[in-house]
Amino acid sequence: MSEDTFDLSGRVALVTGASRGIGRAIAMLLARHGAVVVVSSRKLEGCEAVAGEIRAAGGKASALACHIGEVEQIAAAFGEIDARHGRIDILVNNAATNPYFGPAVDMEIAAFQKTVDVNIRGFFCASIEAGRRMIAQGKGAIVNVASVNAFRPMDGQAVYSMTKAAIVNMTQGLAREWGRKGVRVNALAPGLVETKFAAAVHSDPKRRAIAESLTPLGRIAQPGEIAGAALYLVSDAASFTTGSCLTVDGGWLA
Ligand SMILES: NC(=O)c1ccc[n+]([C@@H]2O[C@H](COP(=O)([O-])OP(=O)(O)OC[C@H]3O[C@@H](n4cnc5c(N)ncnc54)[C@H](OP(=O)(O)O)[C@@H]3O)[C@@H](O)[C@H]2O)c1
Repeated sequence: MSEDTFDLSGRVALVTGASRGIGRAIAMLLARHGAVVVVSSRKLEGCEAVAGEIRAAGGKASALACHIGEVEQIAAAFGEIDARHGRIDILVNNAATNPYFGPAVDMEIAAFQKTVDVNIRGFFCASIEAGRRMIAQGKGAIVNVASVNAFRPMDGQAVYSMTKAAIVNMTQGLAREWGRKGVRVNALAPGLVETKFAAAVHSDPKRRAIAESLTPLGRIAQPGEIAGAALYLVSDAASFTTGSCLTVDGGWLA
């Protein structure tokens, strides 16, 4: 083990939803710590831009388009990573969707299905593709980006919150199955972060003020403030941590 337990030199990392927001911040930080990062989201252009930023800063990265709501696209993405790198050491399941914000009684079943397909099936299928390879290698680390909503559902987000609770549970289930095979699986639960995803909340002055008033640190997070937790969980610094969910919420749940 390197003396620097946060050193990821040479490790191949796939970060989903890495073209912007929290995923972008995680991809950039993992690359700064030596990882070879595969920057993925649905639209290749945004991924190319982030991979280019990483390379311009002296890191190693490439772009890969993958819609995590499409099972075949996930399998194809891992096939492409096999071809490019021949291994996968780190998976950050970050891309998620939240197509509906409102009363549960008014939610269309199509929006329900999309939320479940991306946020649960997508995370699960990517974990299985990565897990198979990591088990064969005898080592690997997976981080699933959940949410504080897993523990305290936000009004108007019943189904999104439910999928995040499922992810925390899946994290524990896979951690139990894969611990003795050298694969660690953890989750992290951000509070409100200033990204496009949460714009309906943070760009509404009233809602933002409520969120800030309920957060002991008195503000919402920037994406870079979530990335350190992901770095910790995928690195050897967390070698005895599996099945956990690290909350990064400015104290909101407290
Ligand atoms: N922001 C918050 O307040 C907050 C709080 C708690 C948890 N989270 C969680 O943090 C994660 C990242 O959210 P964020 O706030 O960083 O969002 P964001 O800034 O909107 O970024 C979302 C990323 O996911 C990609 N994406 C969206 N749907 C996808 C799909 N079906 N397949 C593959 N990629 C997809 C987007 O790129 P493309 O459009 O190119 O696909 C983009 O790169 C999510 O799991 C979210 O639930 C966010």
